[in-house]
Amino acid sequence: MSDDLKVYNPNPAAAAAAHINGMAAYEALCKEAETDYEGFWGRLAKELITWKKPFTKVLNESEAPFFKWFEDGTLNASYNCLDRNIERGLGDKTAIIFEADGGEVTKVTYKELLAKTCQIANGLKAQGVKKGDRVVIYIAMSIDGVAAMQACARIGATHSVVFGGFSAQSLRDRIEDTGAKAIITADCQVRGGKQLPLKAIVDEALTLGGCDSIQKVLVVKRGDVAVTMKDGRDVWMADVVSGQSTECEPEWVEAEHPLFLLYTSGSTGKPKGVQHSTGGYLLHAALTTKWTFDLKQDDVFWCTADIGWVTGHTYITYGPLALGGTEIVFEGVPTYPDAGRFWKMIQDNKVSIFYTAPTAIRSLIKAAEANDAVHPKSFNLSSLRILGSVGEPINPAAWEWYHQHVGGGRCPIVDTFWQTETGGHMITPLPGATPLIPGSCTLPFPGIQAAIVDETGKDVPWGQGGILVVKRPWPSMIRTIWGDPERFKKSYYPEDFKGKYYLAGDGAIRDEKTGYFTITGRIDDVLNVSGHRMGTMEIESALVSCTELVAEAAVVGRPDDTTGEAICAFVVLKRSRPTGDEAKQIAKILRDHVGKEIGPIAKPKDIRFGDNLPKTRSGKIMRRLLRSIAKGEAITQDTSTLENPAILDQLSENN
Ligand code: WTA
Repeated sequence: MSDDLKVYNPNPAAAAAAHINGMAAYEALCKEAETDYEGFWGRLAKELITWKKPFTKVLNESEAPFFKWFEDGTLNASYNCLDRNIERGLGDKTAIIFEADGGEVTKVTYKELLAKTCQIANGLKAQGVKKGDRVVIYIAMSIDGVAAMQACARIGATHSVVFGGFSAQSLRDRIEDTGAKAIITADCQVRGGKQLPLKAIVDEALTLGGCDSIQKVLVVKRGDVAVTMKDGRDVWMADVVSGQSTECEPEWVEAEHPLFLLYTSGSTGKPKGVQHSTGGYLLHAALTTKWTFDLKQDDVFWCTADIGWVTGHTYITYGPLALGGTEIVFEGVPTYPDAGRFWKMIQDNKVSIFYTAPTAIRSLIKAAEANDAVHPKSFNLSSLRILGSVGEPINPAAWEWYHQHVGGGRCPIVDTFWQTETGGHMITPLPGATPLIPGSCTLPFPGIQAAIVDETGKDVPWGQGGILVVKRPWPSMIRTIWGDPERFKKSYYPEDFKGKYYLAGDGAIRDEKTGYFTITGRIDDVLNVSGHRMGTMEIESALVSCTELVAEAAVVGRPDDTTGEAICAFVVLKRSRPTGDEAKQIAKILRDHVGKEIGPIAKPKDIRFGDNLPKTRSGKIMRRLLRSIAKGEAITQDTSTLENPAILDQLSENN
């Protein structure tokens, strides 16, 4: 390693006991994949997955980029996550430790989770849901949520979880796009001591039109929020499962059968339904949980993500359960009842592997520095052995703090780069092998052919930034965009690269000496706010849909110390440009409007009003100038092509 970089080597004793116990083991796996790509993945698919009918063919590239993996094999994801562990003697092992917002703890064993899953699965069947149907799940973090996903998998229904923070409008869009037959929801979700309605939002979504496919709404009772139940459509989950058998024969599906759809933002248009397979996805979920987190039988694993995001799918619902692990499912927020919540939970539950997002770490640093009582040093975190980071770049200062204060200087941090589309980790350290450098996600996971290329698809040398691509298909990759195969091709296998490489949408650079990857951020119009992906176009559409006020809007991101990026909107109103208190009032109306259209996570942090937007003579909005203004930078770019240069001064004024 080069001398000028701070390197953290694996602790030799811990490394020796790890599944991948050193760089030699890592390199041997990379070599194996290089020498016999299909042999490598085929071997792992046999080792990690139990197949009903074994596959005979690993990869089918005949309809590239619509790749198929293990296509003649059949399996069931819920069988692999539940029954199989019971058959291995883990039936009485705790599968999930659920901690509610208020601190109440409920544990379920593998046997209990299987029984619950089967009852829901049988209940779904009784409500008319069958293989191939889609089920939207709009529920907060809960054992019921995980079991509902597993139940869909058990009967071959494709789930589409919608994050509980999305609005009725966003929920409606997803329901319409999936053509779902049923929705599983709850009366409410509990966050920070408050009960927030969910069922009422479902009701509203269903009145917005386009949701005729929905026949049933299954409602879990979480709190005591009053709900209206529509006759013939709405049923309580308790009644659905009552009297149902705790056994349910799994539906054996083909490896390519869609396990789930998960909507994510792109640079244009509406969110896209990323379609994942059963076999390839489950393999990578299990494999990355095993190698990246080095999960072992006595670990307590805690991924703090919500099941509404891909991280919650892969590292809560599928990966840890496929390995027979014990995991925490947490309902609340990191700052309730105080900002020591995470540290207390690690202490009380003896968490050994902890996986969270840089935004959470950064906000907890601030709180800890202001108050010793919520500082990690006030808790016993000695159970921890591995830390993880996901969703956005982790800045070296946050990395160092996480390493020192949470990990006591002894726990490796796996900075895992991946995406909704990739299904699981793509570039990440392996804790017993990879020397760590803060701010770098280090090296590709074995078998993943990540590379950095220029606009023509040619490799760039180390030390030179470029476009991140993956050169070969991998088992857990996105299969298509639901209902829009053309958009799938255009977004991920564009002609610029002769349709050959998977385009991640991120920029990256490899260190000149070590070859380590650092992700430099999205190269498209996608923002990353607190680790949540947001398309600038979506937010712009939401703003201009406030037709009585807004004439035009442009949205850009700017760096933010806590949330990574912050949303900045530049708005031209239909009436004259407001200033002072009036500007504040209108900004609030617009923020609330965006919250209603998309969800609170999409509310712009800054809203600036102008008489116009900076445009070229051909009418194109010059976003790079808006980015500079949003950052508060002096404009150094050439503005000679601007139609209306005076607008820059106006927009730069703080209003
Ligand atoms: C970003 C979340 C830097 C990246 C799993 C990617 C990261 C987008 C990292 C995907 C990381 C994710 N370092 N950037 N370790 N992990 N990203 O689909 O821009 O919600 O394209 O998946 O998050 O976000 P998504």
